[in-house]
Amino acid sequence: MLDASTLQTAIANAHQQLVRAFCERFPEWTLPAFDGLMALPPRRQWQAVNDYWLARKHGVLTLKLKELGTLPADQRPSRGAALNRFKAEVEAVLSQLEAQLRAFEEAETIRREAVDVTLPGLVRRRGRAHPLTQIRERIEDIFVAMGYAVEDGPEVDTVFYNFDALNIPPNHPARDLTDTFYIDDELALRSQTSNVQIHAMQRRKPPLRIIAPGRVFRRDEPDATHNPMFFQVEGLNVAPGISMADLKGTLQVFLTKLFERPVTLRFRPSYFPFVEPGAETDFQCPFCEGAGCRICKHTGWIELGGSGMVHPNVLRACGIDPTEFSGFAFGFGIDRMAALLYGIDDIRLYYENDLRFLSQF
Ligand code: PHE
Repeated sequence: MLDASTLQTAIANAHQQLVRAFCERFPEWTLPAFDGLMALPPRRQWQAVNDYWLARKHGVLTLKLKELGTLPADQRPSRGAALNRFKAEVEAVLSQLEAQLRAFEEAETIRREAVDVTLPGLVRRRGRAHPLTQIRERIEDIFVAMGYAVEDGPEVDTVFYNFDALNIPPNHPARDLTDTFYIDDELALRSQTSNVQIHAMQRRKPPLRIIAPGRVFRRDEPDATHNPMFFQVEGLNVAPGISMADLKGTLQVFLTKLFERPVTLRFRPSYFPFVEPGAETDFQCPFCEGAGCRICKHTGWIELGGSGMVHPNVLRACGIDPTEFSGFAFGFGIDRMAALLYGIDDIRLYYENDLRFLSQF
């Protein structure tokens, strides 16, 4: 294959030959100097030779042909013919070199654009699910395996589903303007996933077993443990004869699977208008087995969330006879679960979309 330096030499030699031929044929004329020809890359070198001889204004042959007019009339025809013959030779030499040049350039392009299949490819960085999504999916898998359906519910809901149907009276603080984001008098961003209990009971006939993970909203200042938007998962199991024992057993199985070690539960009496009895639900810290550590703030227990037996008023509001059916419900924070499992001490990290954080999961 033609390489650049062979081509450069060929062009320079061709030029030298033309210079020699010119001097032989026109000994009375001197040629302007022309150096540095080898220093140019082939295409520019060819162009320089072309211009030297043929440029429209200052090409040697252009100037000489112009000069013909100053010669005595009897010399003009022979000189003119000789110059034109020489010009034709120059053109022939240049076009022959140009053909070589083009072949060289084509080969260069092919070489430059060739794909080296032995080079390592571009690494495509694989995305993955957000840590909260990963935990949500694990929670769903565990409950689906226990026969639960996964329900979706509206994030914007009416005051009826957010409050009234959940036995939350108009004077309850949860309904306060300072606790909830209202769209208008009738609509609010849900402050808990418990609204899905009502939708599910209206849509399905008992017996029913559902969980409802999703976004909830509260008018909280963001800090390490609060955010105005976070995730909860609601659980509801309504069937004849359901009791607190079922609730406890279900949560125990769930937590044992989630933490992959046996977990002990504890109920503390508490008040949620839509359950009776209601309980704050704690589990023994699986990291220190109750001895007390940084994660459980040296109490040996971790708060899971609220739970209890569905209030008869709630069942009735959904057209379910509380003498025939009973049910348990629970609701806890997915953010908190994930923080425990991943050792995250600031839940705001979930929502900042910082890849340095997200790519660790
Ligand atoms: N919805 C309650 C909360 O957000 C938790 C809860 C759910 C309590 C179900 C009892 C039963 O705090």
